[in-house]
Amino acid sequence: MALRNIVTEGDPILHKTSRPIEEINDRILKLLDDMAETMYYENRGIGIAAVQVGVLRRCFIVDIGDEHGRIDFINPEITLREGEQLCTEGCLSVPGKQADVKRPFKIHVKALDRNGNPFEMDAEELLANCICHEYDHLDGVLFVDRAEPGSVVMTNAEE
Ligand code: NI
Repeated sequence: MALRNIVTEGDPILHKTSRPIEEINDRILKLLDDMAETMYYENRGIGIAAVQVGVLRRCFIVDIGDEHGRIDFINPEITLREGEQLCTEGCLSVPGKQADVKRPFKIHVKALDRNGNPFEMDAEELLANCICHEYDHLDGVLFVDRAEPGSVVMTNAEE
């Protein structure tokens, strides 16, 4: 595994749409593992999408520190969105900023795992928030694009 460079706000790639993964080969598996290592580095993140390391492919990883641990999502689809929650978000690609974003309280998501097997799950609260944030990355959307008006604040986050 290896750390990869994180693409940050201002790079136009972050606003591009990622392409589906047609074959889960060694290159994709290495990409996922590198993404995880990059996300866990100095405990900086709870989610990361491939575009954030400069690869326009539809996959992301989340680990909110709950019983699920690390979950790899390949070609995910959010098939249900229910309720609403106001989430305070940050992003590895938007260092030093936080903002409030309205997200569904509960979602249902389908994806492939790293073995190519389909799976689906319900997620609520922080896990739903995190999955929706990462899913947005696949369509070129950043949390600051969805921020509630006036809610963006600068933080002293280490960069
Ligand atoms: Ni992000």
